[in-house]
Amino acid sequence: MTEPTLYGGVTSRRVTVRDLQAAKDRGERWPMLTSYDMLTAALFDEAGIPVLLVGDSAGNNVLGYDTTVPVTVEDLLPLVRGVARGTKRSLVVADLPFGSYQASPAQALETAVRFLREGAQAVKLEGGRRVLPQVELLVESGVPVMGHLGLTPQSVNTLGGYRVQGRGEAGDRLLEDALALQEAGAFALVLEVVPSDLAERVSKELTIPTVGIGAGAGCDAQVLVWTDLAGLTPGAGPKFLKRYADLRTVLTDAVTAYADDVREGRYPGVEHGYS
Ligand code: KIV
Repeated sequence: MTEPTLYGGVTSRRVTVRDLQAAKDRGERWPMLTSYDMLTAALFDEAGIPVLLVGDSAGNNVLGYDTTVPVTVEDLLPLVRGVARGTKRSLVVADLPFGSYQASPAQALETAVRFLREGAQAVKLEGGRRVLPQVELLVESGVPVMGHLGLTPQSVNTLGGYRVQGRGEAGDRLLEDALALQEAGAFALVLEVVPSDLAERVSKELTIPTVGIGAGAGCDAQVLVWTDLAGLTPGAGPKFLKRYADLRTVLTDAVTAYADDVREGRYPGVEHGYS
């Protein structure tokens, strides 16, 4: 296993956006994961994941929604609090939910401040040139911003589904959006479900790190939703997904064994009792 090097041997401090930039400058790739709670956050932090995203994918993974559209700031605030408290080294990025930043730069700043007060060190928002004023004000105000282009799930209703973005001429527009976000001060950029050659082109053109999800191997970093990676979510999942475990089976087997033990009187045993 390769040693995580982003911490630069320092185990007592958090990763910063400067570390991520230095990693890009050195040509060093890094992994990012979502996290929605203190226990997984602590585990991922210990495992050397330098960046944890409290994604609005909590909508699909925690709150039982079909999309990320209904997720609110109030939904995500306690999750950010838990992830921030569970971590010592990982940079915690809070997703700005749909409707919490589009109205104005001032609205974006107000929302971002709420997340930073809960312990996040950065925020992520979706969109290109239309959110530049938001990105500029956030960065000027001291809030590191991660951009998000390509398949932007908060716009699922205008995109008409979860489909590949940036094919053909749309790829040139995406590159222009990416350059504009970098110019506005974004410290990194998520590229979701775009052709691999486009993601590679964007990654080469940008000086800031790109974080791919369904964007091929040409990105500087990769992100996955942890429940997908661990095989907790049902079904095959999208083409880009690699399942690294089968937690769904592990948990199902565990709770079934527990239920059987209780029904059959095998649990609790004498050794689990107090005298
Ligand atoms: O909310 C989320 O999990 C995300 C990642 C897929 C990048 O935005």
